[in-house]
Amino acid sequence: MALMTEEAVQKAWNFHRSFPCYQVTPLISLPHLAERLGIRALYLKDESYRFDLNAFKVLGGSYAMAQFIAHRLGQDISTLPYEVLTSDAIKKKLGDITFYTATDGNHGRGVAWAANTLRQKSVVFMPAGSSQARLQNILKEDADAQVTDLNYDEAVCFAYEQASKDPQGIMVQDTAWEGYEEIPGWIMQGYGTMSYEVHQQLARDGVSPTHIFVQAGVGSLAGSVQGYFAQAYTEQPPVVTVVEAAAADCLYRSVKAQQLVPVEGRLQTIMAGLACGKANTISWQILKQYSECFVSVPDWVAAKGMRVLGAPLRGDRPVISGESGAVTTGLLVTMFEQDGYRDLRETLGLQRDSVVVVFSTEGDTDPERYRRILWDGAWSSV
Ligand SMILES: Cc1ncc(COP(=O)(O)O)c(C=O)c1O
Repeated sequence: MALMTEEAVQKAWNFHRSFPCYQVTPLISLPHLAERLGIRALYLKDESYRFDLNAFKVLGGSYAMAQFIAHRLGQDISTLPYEVLTSDAIKKKLGDITFYTATDGNHGRGVAWAANTLRQKSVVFMPAGSSQARLQNILKEDADAQVTDLNYDEAVCFAYEQASKDPQGIMVQDTAWEGYEEIPGWIMQGYGTMSYEVHQQLARDGVSPTHIFVQAGVGSLAGSVQGYFAQAYTEQPPVVTVVEAAAADCLYRSVKAQQLVPVEGRLQTIMAGLACGKANTISWQILKQYSECFVSVPDWVAAKGMRVLGAPLRGDRPVISGESGAVTTGLLVTMFEQDGYRDLRETLGLQRDSVVVVFSTEGDTDPERYRRILWDGAWSSV
């Protein structure tokens, strides 16, 4: 787990905080919801505030692109803070680069934003059924972006092929496979900025987490979170639960089979960020060793989480959380409300003194559907 050491993550955090738009995203305490559930505390990391991009994903793409550039220039990343990286001198040294990627939305937006900031090009492929709002946000960053008729994993292969054919092309994908591990490793370290902030924020409140719930598509985020927190609290590491969409639960199936098992087909779920059928091979190594529990949930659990956060108990702060962002809260609440989930709650040891952290990894990245769920009650429970 050398990937997620304190030193490596601190490097990523130092890089990110050199950005003029950097601000620590809020870690929101929800005391009334915690009391209702009967736990000591509930903290939610609200990534809708990240760089004005409505999701955490830019942390990974931007850091990997900067690391790639640092390696190409033979420099250490610490010599390339934002101001230097975006300077005319560096652009001149680098020449033209085109960053390729496949995305359900958030990662591609982050890569396109970072490429634009570096005055470089980006080419972005999206799976069939991707929302127009997400496509438009990527196009706004001057990317060459299109929705394909492929599923997510096929779009990744397609983007890789296109990048390989382009002499100036570099693939910046947020998942790893055999032979493609360096860039995704940097992406996971880049996500570490979020965990690093949580660690500092909790320390300020004088608490340590007993339980962490993190959502997974390919598992890069979950591997990053798990890797960081296992080394941050070595004495008493928190119990980490990895939550996936039932339509794309590749990690859940892989853990059951004790080997990587892909999910094929259209991967249809409202949790667009989690609609990935093949797990990240590096993350898999971390998750299978350290994570306590893997849960596969239907779409209504995510919708429930969105409503709980958007219409909170009096005194708790409202949070705008999208489908992939809210699923962890949805699961937490469901475990306390539904008998069918009681065993899971007991297995995890959730009780009066539990301090729970959930990651809300995105805001309303599909605003139309957000309103259909919050206002019109779409995808209501069970
Ligand atoms: C909002 C959001 N949350 C969670 C994830 C899951 O991240 P990963 O694919 O690394 O598991 C994604 C992935 O795109 C996402 O967009």
